[in-house]
Amino acid sequence: MTARPIIANTREELSEALASRGEIGFVPTMGALHDGHASLLTRARSEVGESGAVVASIFVNPLQFGVGEDLDRYPRTLEADLMICADHGVDVVFVPDVTQVYPDGDPEVTINPGPKAEILEGAARPGHFAGVLTVVAKLFGLLGPDVAVFGEKDYQQLVLIRQLVTDLCLPVRIVGAATLREPDGLAMSSRNRYLDDAARSRAVALSQALTAGARSGQQGAAAVLSAAEAVLRQVKGVEVDYLRLTSTNLGPAPSSGTARLLVAAQLGQTRLIDNVAVELGSSDERSS
Ligand code: PAJ
Repeated sequence: MTARPIIANTREELSEALASRGEIGFVPTMGALHDGHASLLTRARSEVGESGAVVASIFVNPLQFGVGEDLDRYPRTLEADLMICADHGVDVVFVPDVTQVYPDGDPEVTINPGPKAEILEGAARPGHFAGVLTVVAKLFGLLGPDVAVFGEKDYQQLVLIRQLVTDLCLPVRIVGAATLREPDGLAMSSRNRYLDDAARSRAVALSQALTAGARSGQQGAAAVLSAAEAVLRQVKGVEVDYLRLTSTNLGPAPSSGTARLLVAAQLGQTRLIDNVAVELGSSDERSS
């Protein structure tokens, strides 16, 4: 049996819905929910247990969209989203409009996300991570969650949120959850629905490139990058913005141990991102 979650549209309704709850597990989203989001809801439940409360938010945050990005055409599927929340045992769904989140218009005080927001997605989308961290900090303020779950799908976002919580001493535990994929490997994303058939079939090149890269980990960093590049080169219509191997914290890749391989590409009008963990060994280690 699935109980319908409480839907809170205002700050007041939210605090009422959260009064006298146990531990709060929070999953912030922009809606257009898919199985990847659903897996975060399940993870939030396992973090707080049956005595806790799982809260999802659905808010397409204008502050994190740049000029010419897809704010206006971002998919909005509220009824279906609420069904997914109900099916996954969500207790409260916070669905504010923009005046609830930004009652005085753009905030005067915002989060400066620091140097890790300048690279990768941040280089292509100036101001994006300031918008993300500002809204996440506000949502933490409104909800007071004990734990918040974010997907590794947006790996740079996850790293920056951990940095936010550490640097500003926010009393919330951050959990990173694995990326859910379509059967052919494409990372699930709300933006996949923009892809036409041709672009959809090309899109699988991203995860294939990452898999090929990760498989070459034991041969070292250069081999990882060239294996991934070889896959991407074979596909027309996939305009690669970056393919980068970093440390788990987005610094320079280590010479051995765990690293992260990240890719972004434009397929027609749609920008897709993906990433995987890579275990780097040196060729020396392999031959010994
Ligand atoms: P959104 O893109 O809706 O994603 C919400 C959460 O779902 C993020 O933590 C994201 O990493 C996770 N997610 C997306 N696709 C996933 C997949 N295939 N597998 C697992 N998790 C996945 O990220 C945002 O919204 C916004 O920036 C937000 C944090 C809500 C701030 O506005």
